[in-house]
Amino acid sequence: MSLLRLKKSIEVRDAISRMSPYKPPLENRDPKEFILMDFNESPLPLPSDVIQKISGLLKSYVNIYPIYGDFIEKLGEYSGVPSENLLLTNGSDQAIDIIMRSLMEIEEEAVMAQPGFQMYNQTANTLGCKLTGPQFTSDFKFPHQKLKESVNSKTRLIILINPNNPTGTFVSLSQVEDLLKSFPDIPLLVDEAYYEFTGESCISLLSSYPNLIVIRTFSKALALPSLRLGYVIAHPDFIQELKKIRGPYDVNAVAVLAAREQLNHPEYWQNMVRHLMDKCKPKIENYFDEKGVKYFSSKANFMLVVPPNVQHAYKFLMENKILVRPMKSPIAHTFRMSLRMMPEMERFMKVFTCYLNN
Ligand SMILES: Cc1ncc(COP(=O)(O)O)c(C=O)c1O
Repeated sequence: MSLLRLKKSIEVRDAISRMSPYKPPLENRDPKEFILMDFNESPLPLPSDVIQKISGLLKSYVNIYPIYGDFIEKLGEYSGVPSENLLLTNGSDQAIDIIMRSLMEIEEEAVMAQPGFQMYNQTANTLGCKLTGPQFTSDFKFPHQKLKESVNSKTRLIILINPNNPTGTFVSLSQVEDLLKSFPDIPLLVDEAYYEFTGESCISLLSSYPNLIVIRTFSKALALPSLRLGYVIAHPDFIQELKKIRGPYDVNAVAVLAAREQLNHPEYWQNMVRHLMDKCKPKIENYFDEKGVKYFSSKANFMLVVPPNVQHAYKFLMENKILVRPMKSPIAHTFRMSLRMMPEMERFMKVFTCYLNN
């Protein structure tokens, strides 16, 4: 044991010492070795001219603080809102963090249908707050009424992930509006991380409901998860409050350059989205139907699969160089898989057939 370990450690807040880190299974994810179906990422690398532009920026601009130029205006055009409604964040994880920090005092609550994206629990816990809410039904329908009933005097935030990761559940615009109307004094955060796949958004409600907050990311269809870029779309006054928490340079210049290129030349990632949603998704659905394997599709680039035995399926796929994501309780009978380009989907189907025949 090192000398340092012998000394008494620094004491952190109770809320933090009670927690465990959020540790998604990132080890050994080598894209040269495995087909990565475990993190809902884009199956394609950035176009080579974007890589060239990044390398130009690395040569000349890394020793100065980031210059964002007119990117926020560009993002406004893309999202259909004025730039005063927008805030860039270091991934949408940071958006979740600063939104919850700006709203929640210790022991207050956020409600969200469960299970949802783990970072919401994690962030609530860092604040000494609770994330509560009803379970999705066993066929992953949205528990709209139960969610409304779970709102109480301690509720400071309602969270909707649309479509929900991992269950794929989609919430309709009228259901979103009903929540905004029913709880005008409680902010409603709608996580649209998969917007480019669904093509559906609740942003149109922003002008009527100042309690609406939307977050999105460049990590999914826009293919920049390693560069970390997300954004918040909300009332300008709330954006100003969030600016007090987010640091002025939290968003890096490489992410903004790459994002600008992706917005200026959308054909490449839009073709990928169409390929996944129009070709790969029906193909894998047909395949599971034919094989009698139960699955839950989504409007995004992922689905939940109910194999005969999750651990066996996961292990067999991994041994054959395919990574999927086994889920935890209460959906531990499923794994989540991301859609990839057709040749990789075909490889998946071939390997999965061997697993079923085993
Ligand atoms: C629903 C949802 N929200 C937010 C995120 C976080 O994305 P990022 O922090 O990379 O923007 C993810 C990532 O998987 C997600 O699935």
